[in-house]
Amino acid sequence: MSADVVEAPSFPQRRTCPYQPPGIYRDIAERGPINQVTLWNGRRVWLFTGYAESREILSDPRLSSDRSYDEYPTMAPHLGAEEARKLVLVGEDPPTHDIHRRLLNPEFGLKHARALRPRIQADIDALIDAMLEKGPPADLVADYAMPIPGLAMSALLGIPFADHAFFQDATRGVMQASTPEETNAAGKALFGYLDGLVSAQERDPGEELLGRLARRVLEGELGHDELVQLAMVLLIAGLETTSSMIPLGVVALFDHPEQLAALREGRVPVRVAVEELLRITAVTDFGGVRWVTDDIEIAGRHIKAGDGIVVSSTMANRDPSVHADPYTFDLSRGSRQHLTFGFGIHQCLGQSLARTQLEVAYETLVRRLPGLRLAVDSDELTMRQSGTMQGLVSLPVTW
Ligand code: HEM
Repeated sequence: MSADVVEAPSFPQRRTCPYQPPGIYRDIAERGPINQVTLWNGRRVWLFTGYAESREILSDPRLSSDRSYDEYPTMAPHLGAEEARKLVLVGEDPPTHDIHRRLLNPEFGLKHARALRPRIQADIDALIDAMLEKGPPADLVADYAMPIPGLAMSALLGIPFADHAFFQDATRGVMQASTPEETNAAGKALFGYLDGLVSAQERDPGEELLGRLARRVLEGELGHDELVQLAMVLLIAGLETTSSMIPLGVVALFDHPEQLAALREGRVPVRVAVEELLRITAVTDFGGVRWVTDDIEIAGRHIKAGDGIVVSSTMANRDPSVHADPYTFDLSRGSRQHLTFGFGIHQCLGQSLARTQLEVAYETLVRRLPGLRLAVDSDELTMRQSGTMQGLVSLPVTW
């Protein structure tokens, strides 16, 4: 291994355990809270692994999320594609970001998530009914985890769930393609689809989120294309994250039968358990990618204008100064001190909705399928890793 590699290891790296990070991340974090790593294209960026330093940097106004600049670190080849670079909201800085966020914040509060809960519960019960009717084994990815956010986002936005296979595929295509061409094709297809739906809402606005925002377009407060782009980012951010997280959490529970029993027997309330599942599992190894617009001094490091920043939520969630014994999976920990939803102005817009789906998904699963267990050996499970997101290809279970 050359001195260079030791100094700035490549990032991100492939996982072998579905929920614990590769060992090298631990080595990096043990060197200090801020280190250099090398991306796929040879670029060196600053990797933040300390919890306090990560929060500090993500709150700094000298950071930019604007992907149209070359300074923005491209985490995988397909993310250099135009369709990935022009994402609104998550790829915007103030003041545009604040305008879009103010528009959407009221739609994603706790009140809305609570109102959707009965609908989410009914949809999840119907998925379990279908699994029971068909009988074991089932694939917890295809039969359970994938449709859950599809159903929730359809209900929230007011888009037909019948199109689920298309929009799930297209959103995955934008974020997890193998080439920039695939990302562009998926992005254009998704834009075309949502363009049609938004136009229909503008002709006859419905009561759901798209209908409510279509009224703003008719009142001249929002552009048509702007609404299509916002709908696109909501789908991209809201589907794959939740559907990948559910099975990763189930595997962590299978590997820790005493924790699974505690959840099943109600010794740990699901609301508390979900926070530890969020802390330990990670659908991505980075909770924020930025570039620096002005020199910054932080934790003894001098970060120059133009440098790239990557915050590792995975490692910040395992900072031993915040969580004792941080690699231990302990559902009763119940700490919300994790960066799984990011931090600062871009902190996850959909976190109340995500928590609601996760709570209902885990609680219903362990209650209605008390004998739930793996139907294959755990070493037969295959990870899907795109360099940006991670999940399981399938999760065969029986009960
Ligand atoms: C387990 C599920 C989820 C995880 C782990 C997750 C994680 C994250 C993270 C880390 C960020 C910050 C990105 C950054 O700072 O660059 C973020 C932002 C965002 N998330 Fe989530 N998310 C989840 C579910 C959802 C859901 C259900 C929605 C619903 C639409 C959603 C919508 C968004 C949006 C729109 C942003 C961008 C916010 C902004 O830039 O102001 N997410 N999410």
